[in-house]
Amino acid sequence: MSHDTTAPATGTDPSPAGASGAFPDGFLWGVAFAANQVEGGFDQGGKGLSQADVIPHRTAGDYVDISALMKASDATIAEAIASPGAAGYPKRSGSDFYGHWQEDVDLFAEMGLKALRMSIAWTRIFPTGIEAEPNEEGLLFYERLFTRLREKGIEPVVTMSHYEMPLHLVTVYGGWTSREVVGFFQRYARTIVGRYAGLVRYWLTFNEINTTLIEPYTGGGVIEREPAPGVDPRQAGYQALHHQFVASALATKIVHELDPAAQVGCMLARMSHYPASSDPADIVKAQFDNNMNLFHTDVQVRGRYSGTVRRFWRDQGIQVEMAPGDEELLAANTVDFLSFSYYMSLVSSVSPEKYGATGGNLFSTIKNPHLATTEWGWHFDPEGLRYVLNDLWDRYQVPLFIVENGLGATDVLEGAAADAATGGSDTRQVHDPYRIDYFVQHLRQVREAIADGVTLLGYTAWGGLDIISASTSQMTKRYGVIYVDADDAGQGSYDRVRKDSFHWYQQLVATNGAVLDAPS
Ligand code: BG6
Repeated sequence: MSHDTTAPATGTDPSPAGASGAFPDGFLWGVAFAANQVEGGFDQGGKGLSQADVIPHRTAGDYVDISALMKASDATIAEAIASPGAAGYPKRSGSDFYGHWQEDVDLFAEMGLKALRMSIAWTRIFPTGIEAEPNEEGLLFYERLFTRLREKGIEPVVTMSHYEMPLHLVTVYGGWTSREVVGFFQRYARTIVGRYAGLVRYWLTFNEINTTLIEPYTGGGVIEREPAPGVDPRQAGYQALHHQFVASALATKIVHELDPAAQVGCMLARMSHYPASSDPADIVKAQFDNNMNLFHTDVQVRGRYSGTVRRFWRDQGIQVEMAPGDEELLAANTVDFLSFSYYMSLVSSVSPEKYGATGGNLFSTIKNPHLATTEWGWHFDPEGLRYVLNDLWDRYQVPLFIVENGLGATDVLEGAAADAATGGSDTRQVHDPYRIDYFVQHLRQVREAIADGVTLLGYTAWGGLDIISASTSQMTKRYGVIYVDADDAGQGSYDRVRKDSFHWYQQLVATNGAVLDAPS
């Protein structure tokens, strides 16, 4: 929603008196971010170049075709490799978490957080992906971070691969289309799980694994090239995805073997599709679209590809190569819990041309007339989160974990930094009632879902700090409850400033959600 727009009165805002249930004891309240969007230090500590380090800043007046912003070609990658320094490549500087991590952990502790969902940059551990031995400096960075988090009572929830793989594996091997990459990932997974046994109890394998089909470069390190004559251009994405499923199953096995106390989750960008009308054709289309989103979790939670996707491959002539034993491996190594991101819902119709479009996370959708949209055109649908939680719980009956939910918005920094010369104190602040409202509306629905009987491990708000947007590479599409003083060109002090939402989130955790009953 834009700042001055409130959600329409469609019953999305249950009154506190009508709210029921409560958050369970030990609920993992936290924040979430990814290495490639937050760390910076792209050439420090022995780190290699990753696929995210070569994505240039792109200004886009039109955010409807979001996926166009995330693509890379051989030419753009070559240009990026020839470009030293961080200028023009926002993910190279991120929010400089690499330089500020101790201060940031202190801020998270001040908020009382119980969890930090984060990712390891594969390129800090294996700079090109193919080294025989890991980079000790990279391993030490995360060891110190996890140790410090635990000292502060913050549980690290760690994604092995969040839109990040060594660039060498992209350019030389073809990203996840190559079966060999499974072996490199296995070595990486064994290295980090072994090293951090006892420090990390919650592992996620691949962030939003369904991105590989939506945006193959970001999700699977697949550079778009002309396919061979007669080959469906989507085939590369499905092949890359199959290799990721195999790698995820192997990583799950590794965690269960090396650290039996730890748990492993899959991670889906859950995009629920509503039918545009009550026309049965629209309803069947929405069901198909939902099944094509959920087949990923069918593989990772149930251990098998669904009939829907197998039929789709047959109908479209898509051939996915599976090695002998792959299907048994997938069946034998399912995850312990299902984590997902939720930002919005989508709309399905057999006649999309009848409707207008709006932007969205990773792709655009038919505009839902019942929902307001954010500044970036994403549907604002808190009630949809209750629907998704119930739906996932009914389908899979494994614990759920909301590991991303939050609002990208333009924030205004007011006041001034401390001035030693004049003795002036730091008066900087950010008033972001729209972000607090976003959390309130969504979390009231989460509470309803818990009352409905859903088992939920935790909620980690995206992104804690302001981070570089995955799709638009903007810093100024701000997600944090902590402001990072930097602009889209990477200029600024990188000072951290507590937003109003920081103080609200602190209350949320301290009251285990009871603050949601305060009038908003
Ligand atoms: C999720 C990703 O899809 O959405 C995050 O896992 C991303 O990496 C988040 O930042 C928000 O999307 P964006 O494009 O606004 O940064």
